[in-house]
Amino acid sequence: MADNPTKGLADVVAASTALSDIDGRAGRLFYRGYDIHELAGRTSFEETAHLLQVGTLPTRAQLAAYGAELVQGRTLGGLVAANVAEIAEKQAPMEALRTLVSLASADDPDKGSNSAEANHRKAARLTAQQPILVARYHAARTGGEPREPDPELSIAANFLLQITGRVPERRAVEIFDTCLVLHADHTMNASTFAARVCAATLSDMHSAIVAAIGTLKGPLHGGANEQVMRTLESIEPSGVAQAVRDRLVRGEKIMGFGHRVYKTEDPRATHLREMSRELGEASGDDTYYRMSKEMEEVVFAEKGLYPNVDFYAATVYHYLGIPTDLFTPVFSVSRMSGWTAHVIEQHADNRLIRPDSEYIGQSAQKWTPIDER
Ligand SMILES: CC(C)(COP(=O)(O)OP(=O)(O)OC[C@H]1O[C@@H](n2cnc3c(N)ncnc32)[C@H](O)[C@@H]1OP(=O)(O)O)[C@@H](O)C(=O)NCCC(=O)NCCS
Repeated sequence: MADNPTKGLADVVAASTALSDIDGRAGRLFYRGYDIHELAGRTSFEETAHLLQVGTLPTRAQLAAYGAELVQGRTLGGLVAANVAEIAEKQAPMEALRTLVSLASADDPDKGSNSAEANHRKAARLTAQQPILVARYHAARTGGEPREPDPELSIAANFLLQITGRVPERRAVEIFDTCLVLHADHTMNASTFAARVCAATLSDMHSAIVAAIGTLKGPLHGGANEQVMRTLESIEPSGVAQAVRDRLVRGEKIMGFGHRVYKTEDPRATHLREMSRELGEASGDDTYYRMSKEMEEVVFAEKGLYPNVDFYAATVYHYLGIPTDLFTPVFSVSRMSGWTAHVIEQHADNRLIRPDSEYIGQSAQKWTPIDER
């Protein structure tokens, strides 16, 4: 029996990783030693995925080769194509993605292997596939086929093209690409931990990703970005302060605020706030941005809490024309690069993850036959 368990495993070091690192007091985030402020706006999502999965920022030749792998990986298997319409009818977006990734594994040529080579190929395929799965799902529920992905376009540009049906403006693509970079990895967050626990049983990468998607879905994790938008939509622009205070008095959490690790501003929020401001102004109606700013001020004044990655991501995605219920799927599009990199890392130096628990139930129970209970 373990003594003094840490509720929620706060501050417990559960794994070693060379992928990302957080300095929660200074509000800094690093991917393989690169400060997120260095990468955001300068490095594409494809370069970032290569950095995480392969270990280095790619040269031009490496990026071309990885890009070709991604383009090939966009092809969906027969099981997904045959079932996506019914899934879109019956399942909400994150449930559907959980199902679709599982179905996609059936057609993956490397599904039977956990070798490093197979894992790298699967990581690229899953990263390429995830935005296509979201687009196929969205098209199916709105009664059609998505636009064909353009092999010349980046993951960010193709996603906006497929979801909005319009060729996106250059700046919109840059901003969305930066969002994908900002969400790519984040140490031992809940979904990554779930993926690593699954992988550590020597289960396969697709199974680990299905566990991660189910974990990201919850409103205390990736599901928060959707809830932020629903909150903004549900309150009057002039009633932000009152609405926040009312919720706090009722003991409710304000979605998009607080963090287990950051004790100051989340460095990703710094970029997202600025992009939300820019897109709000460019749209001609920055009401949601201004409401967000006020909400940030009130939550800080009342609770001393900072916005996390999900808070300003909500309005950024809104201004980019992404439907609200696809915000968490967008998170998964980016985090796929980190999850898969963690599975590669776990399999490369594996030990079963099996913590202990503190028993708090009854003891010295005496068994009685069923008719005497
Ligand atoms: C992220 C989160 C789950 C971290 O949780 P945690 O480390 O377990 O912290 P706790 O939930 O124990 O919160 C600690 C205290 O801060 C308060 N708090 C934390 N986040 C809060 C929020 N968003 N709104 C209001 N109060 C909050 C808690 O009520 C608690 O107060 P108490 O000590 O008076 O009971 C939590 O901040 C949260 O639920 N945030 C909203 C959901 C969200 O945005 N998730 C995305 C994370 S990237």
